[in-house]
Amino acid sequence: GVPLSGPTHVLSMGGLIVQLNKEELDMLNGRCGYPVQKAMEILVALGEAYGAERMVPVTGVHMPSTTVLIAGDAGVEFLEELLDKGARFVVRTTTNPSAIDPCIWQSLRMPEEMVRKQLGFSEVFRQLGALTCHTCSPYHIGFTPRLGEHVASGESSNVVYFNSVLGARTNREGAPAAIAAALTGRVPGYGLHLTENRKGRVLVRVRTELHDSTDYGALGYLVGKAYTRTVPVFEGVPPFATSENLKYLGAALNSSGAIPLYHVVGVTPEAPTVEAAFQHGKPEQVLDVTETDIEGARAYLGRAEGDKVDWVVLGCPHASIWELRELAQLISGKRVSPNVEFWVCVAQPTKAYAQRMGYAQEIEKAGVKIVCETCPTVTCGRDIACKLGDKVTMATNSAKMAHYSPAECSVPAFYGTTQQCVEAAISGTWRCAR
Ligand code: F3S
Repeated sequence: GVPLSGPTHVLSMGGLIVQLNKEELDMLNGRCGYPVQKAMEILVALGEAYGAERMVPVTGVHMPSTTVLIAGDAGVEFLEELLDKGARFVVRTTTNPSAIDPCIWQSLRMPEEMVRKQLGFSEVFRQLGALTCHTCSPYHIGFTPRLGEHVASGESSNVVYFNSVLGARTNREGAPAAIAAALTGRVPGYGLHLTENRKGRVLVRVRTELHDSTDYGALGYLVGKAYTRTVPVFEGVPPFATSENLKYLGAALNSSGAIPLYHVVGVTPEAPTVEAAFQHGKPEQVLDVTETDIEGARAYLGRAEGDKVDWVVLGCPHASIWELRELAQLISGKRVSPNVEFWVCVAQPTKAYAQRMGYAQEIEKAGVKIVCETCPTVTCGRDIACKLGDKVTMATNSAKMAHYSPAECSVPAFYGTTQQCVEAAISGTWRCAR
């Protein structure tokens, strides 16, 4: 089922066989320039490693590792060299979060040197042809590949959203493969580009009501803990699940279980029925999830001790305009405690939209920082936590943030609804009850 753009030529490298069409062969032979040749070499090597038979044309790339803290000086120099040698991205390319908010970095306690380096790195991406939106939710600002469309994405939470909610097809690409895909418009056809690898494997029967996105996050987290690298099919999720509910479900599945694809019967595009989700086969396993299981996962995610809250973080993955509207409604007329730092992380266009709607003004008036293009785990979160005080604890509505903040920022988390997080921000203390 993999589309090809012309007759193929069989190329044998390292004893394995990869089929390339004439255009791809020209890329490999250097007829399209040095950067494209190197990119095609990377893709062929990757294809060999994973047993791909051919290349797949992609329409877009979401680029991972776009923070200077991950790329390091070597990564920045590599990209600068590509640019100098004439490299240009040939398909729509968006960028994952960076290490900074370019506008309010000072109030976020970000060091000037890091800001300078990041601005330079982002400029290289811009000159290569990327849309430097620096968000982990590019689908909230217009990058929405369609059902069956082949793309190349890094960023685990975006990979699972593209595959599951939109029905687009992508493996989780690292930076070298994503750069190579952006330069050639190709990826090797293996993994989730192939229909047979997209069939459901585990049936999850949801036997309880899901009240809000934190229940979806808890559900995803417990299923990811139970089964890694599988394809779960959820039955019993209401048909009116929102794109935000599904975003939190997928981000949690990927955090605990490295799961890049799930189906929800009657909700996601490849699962109109249970039979379709399993491609008319049988589930390998069946899991029933009860209210007790969801409560258990919520408790596990929110393991911070005591009740003091220093840092409230919403928008992981980056918040939508609807989430900003909800926050504005909850916090309007209130005031964040002077002892609490409150971030809501978004893409810049979402903030601009919220300003136009008046939501941003309500949120900022209450003392919340609307943080663009970054988040605590991709910036210097550990240093920022140190500047906030001793034994800092976080409150978040995101299972992914609750999972990563203890390791990435040395900050244990409380896990609860947006309303609970807002109440914690105002009082400076966590109340367990919803
Ligand atoms: Fe995005 Fe940061 Fe969460 S990159 S998915 S907000 S950990």
